[in-house]
Amino acid sequence: MSIEIQVVDDPAQVCADALSVAAATGADIVLTGGSTPQHAYELAAAQQPQAWQGAKLWFSDERCVGPDDELSNFRMVKGALLDPLAASDVRVDYCRRILGERGFEQGAVEYERELEHIGGGPGAIRFELVLLGVGSDGHICSMFPGQESLSERSRLAVGVPQAGLEPFVPRVTLTFSALSRAKRVLVLATGAGKADPIAAAFADDAPRTEHVPASLLSEHVEDIVVLLDEDAAARL
Ligand code: 6PG
Repeated sequence: MSIEIQVVDDPAQVCADALSVAAATGADIVLTGGSTPQHAYELAAAQQPQAWQGAKLWFSDERCVGPDDELSNFRMVKGALLDPLAASDVRVDYCRRILGERGFEQGAVEYERELEHIGGGPGAIRFELVLLGVGSDGHICSMFPGQESLSERSRLAVGVPQAGLEPFVPRVTLTFSALSRAKRVLVLATGAGKADPIAAAFADDAPRTEHVPASLLSEHVEDIVVLLDEDAAARL
């Protein structure tokens, strides 16, 4: 297991480059929601559109709303990445969004089915790269502090009836069982508001605890890169 902390001037740019490299392999990658990754998607689409031809995209989590809703993670990714790529004549046909509009239980069941079968047969799915953000409460994907999703060990995706943080809509989230299929997880966080959760999750002496979901990543993933700006790294 390795956790590499990288503190850089422009994490979104470094993230955009890493995503484009992973996308260009044609292997499955996982995108996430949140405002921090959005800029990375915009940069990737503008700078390296051809890398995304043939990309295979999945999502870390979704709010239980329709794909056009302003809370939808898919909608954000579409606006920041897929639409600009299409404008450059790059169409990503293999984009497996979570059907949030089906509700948290059914949405999770259907996503898991896709992961199991479209991902290459039961148990076969592997991710080249999983991108994650970290919430101010230390959540990753839509696994919030103290919630049942954190101890799920067999299902790849589960429903989250109650979000631990705004927006308070039910969610569907990948589990640690799914994240453990990643060759590498890239955690992206910027700004002073992330200094506490980043320290609580990744400082050398940080305990692994369900109070800080991101701290549990290292129990499940071999290769973790934490990409930060100086503000987010301030308490490490
Ligand atoms: C979501 C996200 C979530 C996000 C973090 C960080 O749907 O809310 O997938 O896990 O990555 O909350 O979000 P910010 O970058 O906006 O702080």
